[in-house]
Amino acid sequence: MMKILYAKDFQTMSRKAANIISAQVILKPNSVLGFATGSSPLGVYEQLIEWYRKGDLDFSAVRTVNLDEYYGLDKSSPQSYAYFMYQNFFKDINIDPNNTYLPDGTNLDAEAECCRYNQIIGDLGGIDLQLLGIGHNGHIGFNEPGEAFERETHCVALAEKTIEANKRFFDSVDEVPRKAYTMGIKNIMNARKILLIASGEGKAEILCRALTGPIAPSVPASVLQLHNDVTVVADAPALSGILEQSAHLVDKLYDWDMEH
Ligand code: F6R
Repeated sequence: MMKILYAKDFQTMSRKAANIISAQVILKPNSVLGFATGSSPLGVYEQLIEWYRKGDLDFSAVRTVNLDEYYGLDKSSPQSYAYFMYQNFFKDINIDPNNTYLPDGTNLDAEAECCRYNQIIGDLGGIDLQLLGIGHNGHIGFNEPGEAFERETHCVALAEKTIEANKRFFDSVDEVPRKAYTMGIKNIMNARKILLIASGEGKAEILCRALTGPIAPSVPASVLQLHNDVTVVADAPALSGILEQSAHLVDKLYDWDMEH
C-alpha cells in the first residue's frame, strides 16, 4: 500500500517524516533504520535532533544502515557519506557509533565489500524503516535507470546527471567520484517500511512518473509501487505534477499547517 502525504513546504515535510521515524523508534527502540544523504533529509535529521534534545527520543539501541557511499572516499573526507551522517545527525544524538553502518568506500575490492554489507544488513535482521530521497532521474540510493530490480549491494558507475547534481558538494565536477557503492533495489524492497521524501519543483515530474507511471527499471523508484508499506511525504511543489493529474492519490487530510 502506498500513502502520499501532502506537506505545504520543506519544513512541514521534514516534520511529518521525522514524526514517522520517531514513532518507529518509540515503538521499537532497537529498530534498524535505513538512512539517506543529500539535501532532502537534512530537515528530518534536524527535527529528530531537536526532539532528542527535548528528551522525547532515545537512539541508544537504534542501529542504522545507509544506502550508499562513494567508492574511494574515507569517512574522514568531508564529501563522504559517513562524514555527512556524522556531521548532520549522528554527532548530535545518543547513537552508538558502533551501531551505524555504511558501505566502506576505502575497500576497493568491490565484491568483498558488497558481500560484507549485505551480510551486515542480514545479521541486523533486515531494515525496519528505510528513508529514501529520489534523484531527478528517478534513482533511489545510487540505483540509476536501467538497474535490475533484483540486485543487492553493488558498485555502480554514476550517471552523468547524478555527477552533475552532486558536484555542488565538491570543489569541482572533476572531484566527484565516478563510482559508488549502493544498496540494491532488492535490499530496499526488503525493508519492512519505506519512507520516501521529496521537495521542490525540480522533483515534480519524476515523482509523478515514479508513483503513477509504469513500473520499469528506466524509473528505478517506480518499483516502490510494488512495496506493501510505503509512505511518501512531499511538499507542495514536488507534488504539483501528481496534484494536477491524480489529485485523489494525495492525502491532504492531516496537513495541520493548512489551517494554521
Ligand atoms: C543519497 C541517495 C540519493 C538521494 C537522491 C536525492 O544517499 O541515495 O538517492 O536521495 O539523489 O538527493 P537530494 O535529496 O539531494 O535531492
